[in-house]
Formats: sequence, C-alpha cells, structure tokens
Amino acid sequence: TMELSLRPEALNEYIGQSSVKENLRIFIKAAKMRNEPLDHVLLYGPPGLGKTTLASIIANEMEVNIRTTSGPAIERPGDLAAILTSLEPGDVLFIDEVHRLSRAIEEILYSAMEDFCLDIVIGKGELARSVRLDLPPFTLIGATTRAGSLSAPLRDRFGVMARLEYYKPEELSEIVKRTGDVFGIKVDDLSAEEIARRSRGTPRIANRLLRRVRDFVQVEGKDTISLANCQQALELLQVDRLGLDHIDHKLLLGIIHTYKGGPVGLETISATIGEESMTIEDVYEPYLLQIGFLQRTPRGRMVTEQAYHYFGLEASNR
Ligand code: ADE
Repeated sequence: TMELSLRPEALNEYIGQSSVKENLRIFIKAAKMRNEPLDHVLLYGPPGLGKTTLASIIANEMEVNIRTTSGPAIERPGDLAAILTSLEPGDVLFIDEVHRLSRAIEEILYSAMEDFCLDIVIGKGELARSVRLDLPPFTLIGATTRAGSLSAPLRDRFGVMARLEYYKPEELSEIVKRTGDVFGIKVDDLSAEEIARRSRGTPRIANRLLRRVRDFVQVEGKDTISLANCQQALELLQVDRLGLDHIDHKLLLGIIHTYKGGPVGLETISATIGEESMTIEDVYEPYLLQIGFLQRTPRGRMVTEQAYHYFGLEASNR
C-alpha cells in the first residue's frame, strides 16, 4: 500500500497549477529520454503555494537526489563550491529565496549553470591563481517570491520559468480533503469548502487551518470535522469570512483611517502598523491586490472602494 504523506511526492498527486504541471511533465519526460539532467527551473510566486513541494517532486520524477539550501545560507564562494562539488550527476540543487544570493555567489553560479564548471580563486595577492573545476551536470531549481528581484543574467540562465498562481477554492478543498486523509480524520464537503474559502488561495494556510480545526475535533473525542468546528477554529484564529487575518485588517484599516485610504508609501504604512515592509510586500499585498482590495499606484498603496464596502465604510468620506 502507498503511504500518503502531507507533501505529495509525485506530479500526479499534486493538486492544481495545471499548466505548470503539464509543462513540467513534458520537460521531465524529454530530459529522461535524452538521459540528460533537466534544464534549470525557476519557480516563482507568493509564499505557501508549493514551490518547495514541487522542487522535491521534480527530483523524485527525475529519479535523482535533491540538495536543499537557501540564498541567505550561502555566505561564501566556498559554501557553494562545497555543495556543487558534492553533487552526483543529474542531481537537483534547490535554492530557496534565490533572490537573496549575494552578487559574488551569483557570479560563480553563472558558469556553474551554463558550463557545469567552477572558476575559483585560490590564494591571495601575488600567489593568487584561478582554477577551473569541472562539476557534475546538475539541475538548479530556484524559488523566489519575486522574480523581478533576480538580476537579469541569473534569470536568463533558467531554461524553465514557472509562475505559481493562487489556488481555486475547488482545488484547495481537494487539498484539505487529502490532508484530512493523511491525518486520519473525515472532512465533509461543507467543511472543506469553508476552510478553502478562508485560505487566501494558499495550501499552506489551508493545511494550517485544518490542523487547528483538528485540535477542536480531537478534544471533543471525534474523528469527523463539523462545520461548527471549522467556525470555532477560524474565529479563534481571527480569520474572517474572506480569510483575511488581523494583519490584513490592520493594513487596510491603517491606510483607511490614518491616510484616508491612500495613496501611502510602503515604508510609511509599514512603520505605522509595525509590520516589516518585506512581509507586507511578499506575504500580504499579493492577495489583497488579487482580490481587488488594494491598488499599487506610482504614489503608493491605495485601498479600493470594494475594501471600504467590505468593512461597511463609506469611501466618499476619504
Ligand atoms: N499540499 C500542499 N500543496 C499541495 C498540492 N498542491 N497538492 C496536493 N497536496 C498539497
């Protein structure tokens, strides 16, 4: 029997992102037919949509090992050299937050990605010399929330660019049911749909909500989730009917009350509500833009009339 794990292990277990999956299926099959490593892949999009999961699925499907690290973790050229020289032919190197690599490391990556070789400088001053090391052919999978922050030369070296999109409610609902199976609890359609609706298009959020709902079910000594349990947990977590949490509220209401709905600069609103500007930009804004509650203008962020309506406020008072 197949053991079900929280992270899907094969492409056909992975729910949603259908065009990304269809493309990857072809590229993987072709690379395997040629007996070559897969071309380098850049996965980009908001956090929690399954970039890491997809990277490990790609490695599984290619039947190679995956080595995982992140942009900020690679501090010196030697760190990267140690990783690259220890790969086996065809392996996947997964670099999360690839936009946070230093310029020096990026430059070493160029020849590693393009020619599978490493130019490193050994020694200092007059004794310094450059040596060229051959590397095993490998696949770099980079993940980032912001493809725009990658330097052009690095971006150009990824043969495959895949943008992950927010999931549709039906897809999230299916993911919630799958996770319910993994947890060994029954999730009916209505409960799955309720959790899906409130998960901001994001499987990581859906699974986190399901964990909390499960806590309520467990202490009641049951094995079936009810809609009432969902509502209890969602209330406790301060997740509203659109899935917005207290930080989304603070952001929108902060702009409404302190800046008459905007426009206001990112740094200004960040200081006002006490949340990091990077977190606002990478985690909170993308969904609020997508549902049309926030707009980005050249003069800053603006709350839309739709958001005013949602809070029962009059936009004409701005
Ligand atoms: N768990 C998290 N993301 C998933 C996905 N896209 N498909 C299946 N299970 C998941």
